[in-house]
Formats: sequence, C-alpha cells, structure tokens
Amino acid sequence: MSAVPLLELESVTKAYPAAAGGTPLVILKDASLSVARAESVAIVGPSGSGKSTILNLLGGLDRPEAGRVLFEGRDLGTLSEPNLARFRNRSVGLVFQQHHLLPHATVLENVLIPALAEGGTVADAVVQRARQLLDRVGLSLRSDQLPGRLSGGERQRVALVRALINEPAVVLADEPTGALDHTNATEVARLLGDLNRETGVTLVVVTHSAELAAQCRRRLELRDGRLFASA
Ligand SMILES: Nc1ncnc2c1ncn2[C@@H]1O[C@H](COP(=O)(O)OP(=O)(O)OP(=O)(O)O)[C@@H](O)[C@H]1O
Ligand SMILES: [Mg+2]
Repeated sequence: MSAVPLLELESVTKAYPAAAGGTPLVILKDASLSVARAESVAIVGPSGSGKSTILNLLGGLDRPEAGRVLFEGRDLGTLSEPNLARFRNRSVGLVFQQHHLLPHATVLENVLIPALAEGGTVADAVVQRARQLLDRVGLSLRSDQLPGRLSGGERQRVALVRALINEPAVVLADEPTGALDHTNATEVARLLGDLNRETGVTLVVVTHSAELAAQCRRRLELRDGRLFASA
C-alpha cells in the first residue's frame, strides 16, 4: 500500500473576482486536506462557505490562486488539458444535488454517457457493468425507462451509477441527498456507505444530512476558509 494520499489540497487559496472592480472575494484561505484511498470524508459548513468550491478543485474543474491540488501526489496544475480531461473522466465520479439526467435518454443510456465520452462506442463489458450496477442499486428493471418516470431517489441512484461507470478512484458528491425526502435520502446515504466499504471507492461528500455524514469515517467543517475536524 502506498502512503501517498489519493487527494490533497495543499495550502489552497481560492478567490473569485469582485463584481465591479472591488476586492476579490476570498473563499478558501490556506486550506489543506488530505484524503487517503478508500477513505470516506463528509464536509459540512454554512451556505456560501466554499464547499462546492472545494469539490470543484478536487475534481479538477477549477484551479486555486495559490497552493496545490494533488491526485496520487501529482499536481493537477501541471497536467496538460487533455491529461486533466482524462483525470476528470476516468478518476473522478461527480454526483450533484440535482441529478442532471438527460430526460430523453433511457436510464441505461444515461449511465453509459461518461463511458462514451472518450471513445464514442461502449464495450459490451461496460454495458454489462452498467447493468450490474443498476441491479446493485435496485433498478435493473428500469434500465429502459426515461428518468421522468422515476422517483427522486431512483433518479439519484441512476446518477450514482453514472458516477461509478468508469470505475473512478473517488466519488465527489455535492449534497447528493439534498433534493430527496427522508426515506430516499436514507437509502442513498446507505448506498454510498455500502459502496465505499465494499468496493473501496474513496468518498468526499458535501452534506447537510447528519445521516449521510454518519456514514463517513471522517467529518470536517469548513469555516472561515479552512477545514477543521468536526464531531
Ligand atoms: N464563479 C463564481 N464567481 C463568483 N463568486 C462565486 C463563484 N462561484 C462561487 N462563488 C461564491 O463563492 C462562495 C462559495 O461558493 P460555494 O458554491 O463553494 O459555497 P457552498 O458552501 O457550496 O454553498 P451552498 O451550501 O449554498 O451550496 C459563495 O459566496 C459564492 O457566491
Ligand atoms: Mg454548494
């Protein structure tokens, strides 16, 4: 086992430009985070504190003004654009608060989209994997339906399968249960915890849900631009 963390923020500063030439809005100040492979980490914090910003940095969707974001010890800031795109597509699975499924594509087609992004065709083995994952989340009979016919919890489970289809090293989930009722939220929280324990996929989850946070081995609070261990 390598001791190199899977993902790291190293003294990261992130600021957004001010609206009309004023001082930039500093969101993260010297923030650091180290996530080991197969770990599960929940991030909590007030609205606007920078939680989504952290996931965007970890997923290579945004760059810090200062400090470094490292994946397996490599600085994402040094990757070429094609290598960064490959990192995003292969190593990271993103789950958003709203599922963002394509309404005119079936459940199976939706989950295969990240697998299509690189080659244009999908190997039979990948389709089989998609079916197995859909079965795993209890949706094997829904593969050929359109998302509009599914419940909120079912759609979020499809989004989770889509995030897992390329066998990412890490799933970055932004309020994945935020739009769900209690029963569906419980189900999705349990599923994320089970997948982490069974497959070793690393989880970084932003959540307001105590239930989902409890599924994670470590809880961090984002406060004043930095991350602190939380109860
Ligand atoms: N592209 C942007 N340009 C300017 N300001 C931005 C941009 N993206 C985010 N911000 C600001 O940065 C701050 C942090 O945003 P972020 O989305 O990370 O917060 P959050 O903790 O995820 O909040 P929430 O819990 O409401 O989702 C907010 O004040 C937001 O308005
Ligand atoms: Mg957010």
